[in-house]
Amino acid sequence: MGISILGLGSYVPEQKLTNNDFTRFVDTNDEWIRTRTGIIERRMAGWEPTWYMGTQAALKAVEQAGISPEDIGLVISCTATSDFHTPSMASVIQHKTGAVNAAAFDINAACSGFVYALDIAERFLRTDDSLKYVLVAANESLSRFLDFEDRSSCILFGDGAAAAVVERSDKLYASHLASDGSGAGYLCARALKAAPEVKQDSDFVDEFPDMPLHKLYQNGKEVYKFATHALPKSFELAAAKCGITKDEIDWFIPHQANIRIIETAAKKLGAPMEKFIVTLDHYGNTSSVSIPLTLNEAAADGRIVRGQKLALIGFGAGLTYGGIILEF
Ligand code: UT7
Repeated sequence: MGISILGLGSYVPEQKLTNNDFTRFVDTNDEWIRTRTGIIERRMAGWEPTWYMGTQAALKAVEQAGISPEDIGLVISCTATSDFHTPSMASVIQHKTGAVNAAAFDINAACSGFVYALDIAERFLRTDDSLKYVLVAANESLSRFLDFEDRSSCILFGDGAAAAVVERSDKLYASHLASDGSGAGYLCARALKAAPEVKQDSDFVDEFPDMPLHKLYQNGKEVYKFATHALPKSFELAAAKCGITKDEIDWFIPHQANIRIIETAAKKLGAPMEKFIVTLDHYGNTSSVSIPLTLNEAAADGRIVRGQKLALIGFGAGLTYGGIILEF
């Protein structure tokens, strides 16, 4: 069994931040950001809460799917930057989209979130015949957690939302999800001020670096090493499950973190860069949103068409990674 993506939608905030805009807060320049990351501009949420962006994207996906919101049986939202610890973004989006008959929950697998959530949707559809449609909604406001004094991380990220409505189908589908929690300290942000102090003699202390409360900390070099390894590995593990080769894939849609990560991974895989869809130049790294945002853009402009074989590949904090191979 597999899934069919019936509808896609996205929403990005109105506010754009160019590379030059960052020179107002940190010692950086357009040339460094372009050549080291491939990013030219990104969107930053202003007045829009995460749930609002998620709802707008979800409404568009539902409309494109041509279904009624009441027919949705499950809303899965993926986010690492929820507006609330509770309720979930999924419950809010369920209400705002009118998906009154749906169950709803969030998952946090950071930048791999959409791959994880879509795979959970497939597993729900496979095991519950009464479920017809699942709404998978990715929503992120990274800008609210960025440390705008850290030039090596704040320039990388952007905000937005993207969603997909899926149903069960017999089309090609294979997935592999994975995590290496030993790298958890390489990309993290503290959640609660009330978290108890860890005793200094605890083993745990070394695992997580000192970081300003609630601000994103990243060890760029370690994450870079992990990502260039995880991207080809995720594809290979999913491909092995359905016996497909890289040459049979029409489009690779990787998490949009850094153009150099994608180029290095493409070389390792032995697949041409022309098959990798890139949107990070205009959106930056939008975490779990980047894959459905890219998918939606390329389907809307006619690059991705029905019947093509896609490889969706996520990697990010956790350190999580995973791949899905499916027919569009
Ligand atoms: O979803 C996953 C999210 N995370 C990622 O994708 C991050 C993966 N890592 C990366 O993409 C790269 O490691 C970075 C883009 C973060 C950094 O690129 P790099 O080529 O690894 O640079 P670096 O850390 O080796 O730094 C080189 C120099 C340093 O200066 P010195 O020590 O050589 O004087 C940095 O301080 O570049 C400096 N630098 C900057 N200069 C201008 C770091 N950030 C900036 C900046 N503008 N924004």
